[in-house]
Amino acid sequence: MLGTTQMSIRWIQPSDLKQVMEVERESFEFPLTHEEFVDWLKMEQCVCLVYEVRGVVAAYLMYLYDHNRYELLNIAVGRGYRFQRIASELLSHLKMGLNQGRHSISTRVRRKNYPAVNFLLKNGFAVVGKKRETVSETEGAEFVLRMRYVAGD
Ligand SMILES: CC(C)(COP(=O)(O)OP(=O)(O)OC[C@H]1O[C@@H](n2cnc3c(N)ncnc32)[C@H](O)[C@@H]1OP(=O)(O)O)[C@@H](O)C(=O)NCCC(=O)NCCS
Repeated sequence: MLGTTQMSIRWIQPSDLKQVMEVERESFEFPLTHEEFVDWLKMEQCVCLVYEVRGVVAAYLMYLYDHNRYELLNIAVGRGYRFQRIASELLSHLKMGLNQGRHSISTRVRRKNYPAVNFLLKNGFAVVGKKRETVSETEGAEFVLRMRYVAGD
């Protein structure tokens, strides 16, 4: 884990977008485009946190919230920063927001994305549903898992 003088977790700023998009592109087979990313950010209930290491954006977490729950939309760590518990720390930030009113965090993840599924299981999530969905025109249908944070129940 990095020392607290070397890292910070904060809300995204417009000047972070270029680096965040680099993390996005190296993290997903079907990355969001810049325009799609900005459209999410424009939504009133969307929050994006970045994890900065020595002035460089190493990771981001994006979620939606309403009056009683969080929906984790995306979490991604740049290739050179993985396996340092950065994603776990970002997720802890979201878990800290759980209280009696807002009591759940749910997310969707492709079943074949083993690192992501394992990461979520290790962080207190459980599989609560499974559905075949068309992920892209080229890939066709595949299983997408619905997972929910249960450790705090
Ligand atoms: C999944 C991802 C976010 C994990 O980020 P990370 O900062 O490396 O994860 P952490 O260091 O916090 O890992 C916590 C635990 O998750 C599990 N995990 C993390 N990466 C893993 C991998 N590649 N394979 C298997 N398990 C993994 C491990 O159990 C790990 O605990 P350990 O280090 O004690 O073994 C990162 O690999 C990533 O950005 N992947 C591409 C984008 C993506 O698929 N996002 C998930 C969308 S839900």
